[in-house]
Amino acid sequence: MRQGGLFITVEGVEGAGKSTNVQVIEDFLSEKNVDYVLTREPGGTLISEKIRNLLLRHHEEDMEAITELLLIFAARAQHLSTKIRPKLAEGKLVLCDRFTDATYAYQGAGRRCDLKLIGQLENLVQGSLRPDLTVILDLDPHIGLERVRQRGQLDRIESQQLEFFQRVRGAYLDIASRERDRCLVIDSSQTRENVKNTLRNALQERMKDYLNE
Ligand code: TMP
Repeated sequence: MRQGGLFITVEGVEGAGKSTNVQVIEDFLSEKNVDYVLTREPGGTLISEKIRNLLLRHHEEDMEAITELLLIFAARAQHLSTKIRPKLAEGKLVLCDRFTDATYAYQGAGRRCDLKLIGQLENLVQGSLRPDLTVILDLDPHIGLERVRQRGQLDRIESQQLEFFQRVRGAYLDIASRERDRCLVIDSSQTRENVKNTLRNALQERMKDYLNE
C-alpha cells in the first residue's frame, strides 16, 4: 500500500449496516492513532451534498438513468477536487462511505447503464485514482430492505424493487471476486458483534504495512 494518504471505501446494499460498521472502522483508526477524514458519496462537500439531495428526493418527473449517472459523477468530480485529493495529498487517510463501486452496482447493474460509459466517466473524473481498500458489507437485500423500511420513508433510490437490489448485490460480489486484493467482503448477516470482530481482524491484517505493525 502507498505510504501517506490512504483511500478506504465502504459499500453494501441498503440496510447492510454501513453506518454501524463505518463507526467500527473509525474506532479502529482512532485506536491506532491514524489521522483520518470521514466523508460520503454522493456528497461530502456543499455542492455535492446539494446534488445528493437532488438524487435522493422524489420528483414529479422520472429521472433518466443517464441524468442520475452524470449527476453522480458531477458530485464526485467536486468531491475529489475539493476534499478527497487534497486530504490524500496531506497524507491523511480518507474513509469514504460509498464511491465508484456503488456506481457500477446501482447505475450499472441496477439501472443497466452502459458499463463502458461508466468506465470512461471513471477515468475522466478520477484519472488513475482508485480506492486502496474497499469493505463490502454483504447482505441479502430482503433483510436489508426490511431494516430500511422500519426506519421510515424510503428515498427515491431505496424505493426500487427487490430485483434491483439483488442485481446491486450481485455486482458488488462480482467486483470483489475480480479485485480480491482491494476488496474485503464481510458477511453482514452475522450478529453485530461478530461482524465487528471479523471487520476489525480483517483491517488489522490488511493494514499491517500501513500501520507499520
Ligand atoms: P446512503 O449514503 O444512505 O447509502 O445513500 C446513498 C444512495 O445513493 C444509496 O441508495 C446508493 C446510491 N448511490 C448510487 O446509486 N450510486 C453511487 O455512485 C453512489 C455513491 C450512491
